[in-house]
Amino acid sequence: MPSKTNPQVVVRVATPADSSVCGQICYDAFSTLSSKHGFPCDFPGPEAATGVLSMLFSSPGVYCVVAESEGRIVGSNCLDERAMIGGIGPITIDPGAQNLGVGRMLMQAVMDRANERCPAGMRLVQAAYHNRSLALYTSLGFDIREPLCCLQGRPRERSVAGCAVRPAQPTDLETCNGLSRRVHGFDRGADLKQAIKEKTAIVVERAGRVTGYATSMAFFGHATAETNLDMQAMIGSAESFGGPGILLPSRNSALLRWCLANDLHVVQTMTLMSIGLYNEPAGAWLPSILF
Ligand SMILES: CC(C)(COP(=O)(O)OP(=O)(O)OC[C@H]1O[C@@H](n2cnc3c(N)ncnc32)[C@H](O)[C@@H]1OP(=O)(O)O)[C@@H](O)C(=O)NCCC(=O)NCCS
Repeated sequence: MPSKTNPQVVVRVATPADSSVCGQICYDAFSTLSSKHGFPCDFPGPEAATGVLSMLFSSPGVYCVVAESEGRIVGSNCLDERAMIGGIGPITIDPGAQNLGVGRMLMQAVMDRANERCPAGMRLVQAAYHNRSLALYTSLGFDIREPLCCLQGRPRERSVAGCAVRPAQPTDLETCNGLSRRVHGFDRGADLKQAIKEKTAIVVERAGRVTGYATSMAFFGHATAETNLDMQAMIGSAESFGGPGILLPSRNSALLRWCLANDLHVVQTMTLMSIGLYNEPAGAWLPSILF
């Protein structure tokens, strides 16, 4: 383990073979933190954390790093570099090696990479109750952009009059990317393309036009729409939300009230932070945990 007296830590690129060790660390880091604060863990068990990291460590377009101390892995971090704005996380450090500077090293490693590959900037989502990560990211230059609510449950209203939700097709890609550019100023087209291939993506149509899309209604999915009505149709259509829940900008009071009136509950509050390009989105949106 690194210590104040022996801080020797090496950062290297992660390989798929690292995923089970890192998955266990990821689970231990989140479960230790969340149980201390009385919140549910982001992952139901180490297998789920390993599954997510194994997917990220083997995805082209995702840059992943591990930190080693005396030949032992003590933490990992990832950068989704498929868009002009990079998405950072999940970063986790072995609970026995926290608060010794390893997190800062793993953040610096992916930020250096994002500076080369993601010209417009980088973003991350932080658990609002975690003082240490807030302090670390702020001191590294991230600005707070949006308070978020992680929401879970099964919406009572299953459909919205005038809106039809259907699976997204490859032919929807350009329309959805155009919508994202109008709302956010950039698109996450590679992410959406993959989600369409994996059949998790949906679109909503209103008055014969595509007015919103989601890569999936989940913690790891994002959604963008012209109006709250379009977003309500997509939220209402979901049988369940993947992972801890969907992330909803808390300042969108009308949409949050609609969700609460529809039996969704707040799991925890989170914070979207960014460096670089950020414009106030011009529409309804749900960021993913890697937005
Ligand atoms: C968050 C996490 C990745 C940070 O990694 P770490 O190795 O523990 O953090 P570091 O030691 O590199 O940096 C912590 C910094 O925050 C500072 N800090 C810690 N608590 C603080 C507080 N309450 N107020 C102000 N500063 C604080 C430390 O002094 C240190 O600052 P420094 O680099 O200027 O000395 C790690 O603690 C972790 O895995 N947590 C559990 C999982 C998690 O929350 N992941 C992040 C998801 S968003």
